[in-house]
Amino acid sequence: MIQSIRGMRDVAPLEARRWQHVERQAVRALESFGYEEIRLPLLEPTELFSRGLGEATDAVEKEMYNLLDRDGAQLSLRPEGTAGCVRACLQQGLIFNQAQRLWYRGPMFRYERPQKGRYRQFEQIGAEAFGMAGPDVDAELIQLSASLFRALGVAHELELQLNTLGSAASRESFRKSLVAYLTPHRAELDPDSQRRLERNPLRILDSKSPATQALLVDAPSLTDHLDAASLAHFDGLRRLLDSLQIGYVVNPRLVRGLDYYTHTVFEWITGALGSQGTVCAGGRYDGLVEQLGGRATPAAGFAIGVDRLVLLHEALEGKYRVEPIDGFCVVLDAGHTSWAMGVCQRLREALPDVRLRVNAGGGQLKNQLKRADASGADWALIVGEDEVADNEITLKWLRADAPQERLTLAALIARLATSKNGGN
Ligand code: HAM
Repeated sequence: MIQSIRGMRDVAPLEARRWQHVERQAVRALESFGYEEIRLPLLEPTELFSRGLGEATDAVEKEMYNLLDRDGAQLSLRPEGTAGCVRACLQQGLIFNQAQRLWYRGPMFRYERPQKGRYRQFEQIGAEAFGMAGPDVDAELIQLSASLFRALGVAHELELQLNTLGSAASRESFRKSLVAYLTPHRAELDPDSQRRLERNPLRILDSKSPATQALLVDAPSLTDHLDAASLAHFDGLRRLLDSLQIGYVVNPRLVRGLDYYTHTVFEWITGALGSQGTVCAGGRYDGLVEQLGGRATPAAGFAIGVDRLVLLHEALEGKYRVEPIDGFCVVLDAGHTSWAMGVCQRLREALPDVRLRVNAGGGQLKNQLKRADASGADWALIVGEDEVADNEITLKWLRADAPQERLTLAALIARLATSKNGGN
């Protein structure tokens, strides 16, 4: 039997219901803050990511799914959505002299070592705000994500961690002094951090190695390298979050894995999912638009890891109940199938919320009623010779002690519109 690719999962129908719920709440939160959807391709030129996220990031260096198109062009499955969103905005002229609040969703691809909460194909819902330089929009993005977590009933399990990387200049000056401090201790660093010392030294800060962490205790601090404007931005954000009563923890070691961040970075983290506890992450990236060929444009955003948010919802809310369908139509004679399908279609159009299945594959009345019962439906419609002759339908309540009725389609619609379970 052919198996799915490692790290790429199916979502079975029961689980898909939970996904739908989580995604609906996310879209509702995004729309309620006035964000507009943008749809983006899964495949982009490899160069977009190597230039946008940084050659030395894990996502680009080790994890990208690269392929050659038939004409030799180098393509990559997107490892994240921000770079593609910026590319689209530039290409479509969406951020030229105008602010823009956008959201997107869909699968992302990274060749990581799969485990619970970490997959090679995973789903993100992201938000990006362009053209606004102040901390107010950073606060708005955080408020938006917080409101979604509240709506889903998972907020109490998530901690907001916050840091600032400062302007590109303060970050560069910190980078230099960190490298100067760590270079004499090179041999004491874990192998990953040794490699990062030249390529991506800031990432050493979130190394998991105890030896490396011990060395970092006396390392120069990013905070000491922040210029006045960077400090003012961060203070402004903190004041806004305080007055919105959004709790957070400042984590000076929070650096993020992608190179484009400046100033604010944040993560929503839970302890309920084991080691893959970051459910949502983002920050400001004021240099990326210019880096990708546009005019310098301030920008900030976040992406939710939907797989993880769904896992958290499951951990907190337990088993999800599948909403059963409402009705099941029994067709006694194969010759009446098209009549039954036609009537059911008119009923669906009249009552768009009703979920109605029509029996397929024949069967005796008793068997079809068993199927109707197993479907969880509240009522069955029965179509037989008499019904078709009289242009009527029999309605049978499956979960209530109510009499069976023979009704015209109009009367049936009226009846179902007013009662869900046989009562009035
Ligand atoms: P990221 O931190 O790379 O940021 O990913 C954001 C979120 O996607 C993570 O916090 C996590 O929940 C989820 N995620 C990442 N990798 C995996 C994986 N292998 N399996 C399951 N979930 C995963 C970004 O992607 C940025 N584009 C976020 C952003 C938007 N920054 C500004 N705007």
